[in-house]
Amino acid sequence: MAFEEIRSLAAKVASDIASGPIAPRVTPAEIRAHLATRYDFTTALALDDVIADVQQMLRQWQVHVTHPRHLGHFNPGVTPASVVADTLVAMYNPQLATWRTSPAANEIERHTLAWLAAKFGLPADVSASFTSGGAEANLSAVIVALTRAFPDYGEHGLRALGAAPVLYVSTEAHDSFGKIAHMTGLGRGAIRTVATDRHLKMDVGDLARRVAEDRRAGFAPFMVVGTAGTTGAGAIDPLPELAQLCRAERLWFHVDAAWGGAAILSPRLRGHLAGIDGADSITCDAHKWFSVPMAAGMFFCRHPEATVEPYTSSVQWSRRFIGLKLFLALAERGESGYVEMIEHQAYIGDVLRDALRRVGWRIVNASPLPVVCFTRDGLDPTRFLAALHERQIAWMSEVRLGGGPPVLRACVTSHRTTEADVDRIVSEMARLTW
Ligand SMILES: Cc1ncc(COP(=O)(O)O)c(C=O)c1O
Repeated sequence: MAFEEIRSLAAKVASDIASGPIAPRVTPAEIRAHLATRYDFTTALALDDVIADVQQMLRQWQVHVTHPRHLGHFNPGVTPASVVADTLVAMYNPQLATWRTSPAANEIERHTLAWLAAKFGLPADVSASFTSGGAEANLSAVIVALTRAFPDYGEHGLRALGAAPVLYVSTEAHDSFGKIAHMTGLGRGAIRTVATDRHLKMDVGDLARRVAEDRRAGFAPFMVVGTAGTTGAGAIDPLPELAQLCRAERLWFHVDAAWGGAAILSPRLRGHLAGIDGADSITCDAHKWFSVPMAAGMFFCRHPEATVEPYTSSVQWSRRFIGLKLFLALAERGESGYVEMIEHQAYIGDVLRDALRRVGWRIVNASPLPVVCFTRDGLDPTRFLAALHERQIAWMSEVRLGGGPPVLRACVTSHRTTEADVDRIVSEMARLTW
């Protein structure tokens, strides 16, 4: 089959996006009027015409996260091989709920996950699954940790427990844990927010104090979440110390490495993730720094439970063949190709830091990963960003770190971002009026 056509279409779309605007100028009314006038679904339309129109809508009316000057959240530029993979999946539509319905797809996922689990230093019998994203992987971690700590949770729910379970995250952890506490019935009040040090890493002393206090007050601590690459500042919590404390206190140690986990491939960066091999479970997203399209998260668990059939180990029931995009992209580029992509982005992060400093911006975070938070006196981030987006210079976001004032946040998350892009962004920012 000639998948070369899809691959070259994906490459063409990527280069077309790179030469156009990043952020849309549109109102909901404009899009709704367009849809209402064309699509009442009473008559059949020619597919080619609809595809052309949809492409035009997507081209005009979205923030282009695959644009080389998109320095936004953790959404990446995608590799053509991963686009081919999603096409294949849609065509064959394998059902991964059970092994028997999709032996090939299940084994391809297993093979890919085992490769990454070994990189994290997890044992060979690890249980792992692809998820819809990091939030689902974190949800899986909380459910598994709760079930292991309180075997009655599955059958009788939280009501049956003698003490109220609590879990610990840092002030910089991802907000998905609030949602998860809500969904699992723990309640948001079960989340203990541990202080961070001046580099925004979890303060292990504060954690130990909070655990002791909670035990004295009759709560039941069961889990600690360390983040390897916080969403705001790319901080990496002290994983070895957290692993040690969790072992001593018999707490489940989950590492949320949704974005930063990809650094494990890089000989230059992997040292920053030391201690991740002590985790009971890990979240790592393929749809972040592994440069594949959404939705592709991964959940790794050191303690294989009843994992005979995938539906017993995944939040999802019917399950799409999520893992093929990572498998195909990895097979095409090889590990060394991935190391190159990841280290390139880390290097561009350094280039961006240096370029910003040279023209007087103050860098306010310390991360070995390519996320740069910066500010200067008198900055109004909201107005600055509105002007930046309006002029199509780049797409960035604002963030509050450690409860401080909002600052600008730029994350290099496309393997296509170059030094020339950084030069252009920094010099155009210098001329920006807002
Ligand atoms: C550290 C961290 N964990 C979890 C998530 C949630 O991941 P997803 O959006 O894939 O559900 C994010 C999203 O940015 C994140 O940064």
